[in-house]
Amino acid sequence: MQKISGETDSLMLNELEKFRELAENLLTDEADNPVSERIAYEELHDRIDIALSDAATEDGAYYETLNQVLLATPKTSSKLFFNQLFGGRQPKAVLGDLLAVMLNNSMATYKVAGVQVGIEKEVIRNVIGQLNFPTTADGTFAAGGSMTNFMAMLMARDKADEGGRFGGIQQNLTAYTSVEGHYSIEKNASFAGIGRDNVRHIPSDAMGRMNLTELDKAIAADIASGKRPFFVNATAGTTVLGAFDPFAEIAKIAKKYDMWFHIDGAYTGVAMFSDRRNTLLAGAEHSDSFSFNPHKMLGTPMACSIIVARDRKYLLDTFSNSADYLYQTDQDELNLGKMSLQCGRRNDALKFWALWKSVGTSGLAEIVDRQFDLAAFALDYVKNNPDYTVFSHEDSASVCFNYKGIPANKLCTALYESNELMVGFGQFKDDEFVRLVIVNGTMEKKDIVRFFAALENFANKAL
Ligand SMILES: Cc1ncc(COP(=O)(O)O)c(C=O)c1O
Repeated sequence: MQKISGETDSLMLNELEKFRELAENLLTDEADNPVSERIAYEELHDRIDIALSDAATEDGAYYETLNQVLLATPKTSSKLFFNQLFGGRQPKAVLGDLLAVMLNNSMATYKVAGVQVGIEKEVIRNVIGQLNFPTTADGTFAAGGSMTNFMAMLMARDKADEGGRFGGIQQNLTAYTSVEGHYSIEKNASFAGIGRDNVRHIPSDAMGRMNLTELDKAIAADIASGKRPFFVNATAGTTVLGAFDPFAEIAKIAKKYDMWFHIDGAYTGVAMFSDRRNTLLAGAEHSDSFSFNPHKMLGTPMACSIIVARDRKYLLDTFSNSADYLYQTDQDELNLGKMSLQCGRRNDALKFWALWKSVGTSGLAEIVDRQFDLAAFALDYVKNNPDYTVFSHEDSASVCFNYKGIPANKLCTALYESNELMVGFGQFKDDEFVRLVIVNGTMEKKDIVRFFAALENFANKAL
């Protein structure tokens, strides 16, 4: 069949031209219609020809279907998307990712990734510098923040229970995270053989930060009952309130009890790039591992999540395994599969490097600063408007509020179902509120103003 064999260069060039056409259609549509019409799942097959069948699809119909699929997909990069902790596209990062797709390397070995290994190591080396980690540090990429948190827990487990890697876990391990920590910690505890019931959820203070007295108390109680506390997870930007845990103090507690100290910076760990905001990470340099997602605030296509460990020994201990059929040339240092969760691994470094190379560290700082500044602008707006009740605090990319006492669940769902805009809601202690997240580096003040105008007009008209 000519579609799948033959002159691949010309077939490829044809698809690249089609790609450009489709991408242009998407961008034009996104500007005119920043929110896609919601299509009920039951109607999808009637509205768009997504069914697969034995017969091939004729090219004209095929490209038309692709176009429809693109335009119907929720527009997570538009200026009216504030729903999850990612949004917008940095064009240079997109370029890097498109090139990674064309190259299609696996990052496991130097033999098949070559210069891409150099690029990944250069990104990791610079992240280590930003975090003021020692020269023993190293790092890698995984498919998202849940997975980099998982890697941290696995290293911690293997450090605490050395025989476990070979004989299975021998000790009663317990892990600690705040009630505001990401749900992946619990899930990962079950993947890691620790058990969800062995994760302690430490209460937070009024700002959403982990309560240190409660942390110490919980650890001491577990030791008294014969458990082995092995892992404490702190968060740099909690998922709902965007709070930063007190890292320096948590580091001391972790040291006192000989525990691994991980920082989940998936959301706003990128504060490391900004001289104005990196004080939010004070004490992070004492952590055993730190993870963060350029695919959130830095507009790098999903997935892009990095973990660095202060000592590469633990990455190697947990993730390396010999495999004669894979590692046939070069030293371990260059065969990145020796430090990774996967075997074949997508090249997630090139897109972040492509952005960083283009704008420099000062450009990354500008992206981060702009978003914290926009969040401060939005917080100011709700604080100074009596129609709003405010639940979030300074120095957070999440702005949490209710408008005229309308239940957040009702307001956000109605906005979504009416194709007005996408924003989610969250809970903290007994309150539920709209959570406006500022994570799109291409936003400007006028986009925030437009968000509030759209929300207010809709609420006043429809609710
Ligand atoms: C604090 C925190 N950690 C981890 C994650 C998970 O990241 P990912 O969606 O890349 O798995 C999130 C996602 O929003 C998060 O907010």
